[in-house]
Amino acid sequence: MGISRKGLPLFYVMLYLSFFIHVSYSVLKAKDPPSSKPFEPYRIFITNRDIETMIVQCPPGGDEGGLEILRPGNIMTWRFRRNLFDTNRYDCNFYWLKEGNQVMKSITLAVFNNRIAGMCGRNLFSTNRCYWMVTKYGFYLSKHNQTFPNVYDWQVMYVWDTI
Ligand SMILES: *[C@@H]1O[C@H](CO)[C@@H](O)[C@H](O)[C@H]1NC(C)=O
Repeated sequence: MGISRKGLPLFYVMLYLSFFIHVSYSVLKAKDPPSSKPFEPYRIFITNRDIETMIVQCPPGGDEGGLEILRPGNIMTWRFRRNLFDTNRYDCNFYWLKEGNQVMKSITLAVFNNRIAGMCGRNLFSTNRCYWMVTKYGFYLSKHNQTFPNVYDWQVMYVWDTI
């Protein structure tokens, strides 16, 4: 085996390149700020429009989301940045409570995922906003805080009763 005379220049080019790549990689690594977050920023808003009492519970919990009780007009909001692999998703449980706090309806659905990100925008330099409007009928999404209802901007994404 070994490297033929013909292959020799190529061998040196590759050696040179791998050295160069290695060096520039360590330079980049050294300059990288410790907690830079270069991915798209998002903010989610969930507005309860007309449900007597609604409980929203987002399982990711932790430092954002969690559990909130929303009366008509109340807004729940949180923000985050997308991760490297665009795998962020927020699945939330919604409970519609009647008088006496009986659960009348409940539904679990995605409030943020890859597809929804596309509908809210993909701006890297300014916050992309996802406005959710929840009514007794269902869940509407818009990337602008438009007056509601407005058939052109609010898109029905889910309904409480799927039949
Ligand atoms: C949308 O705009 C209205 C009117 O300005 C305001 O009252 C409401 O709080 C806004 N909603 C959100 C989710 O920011």
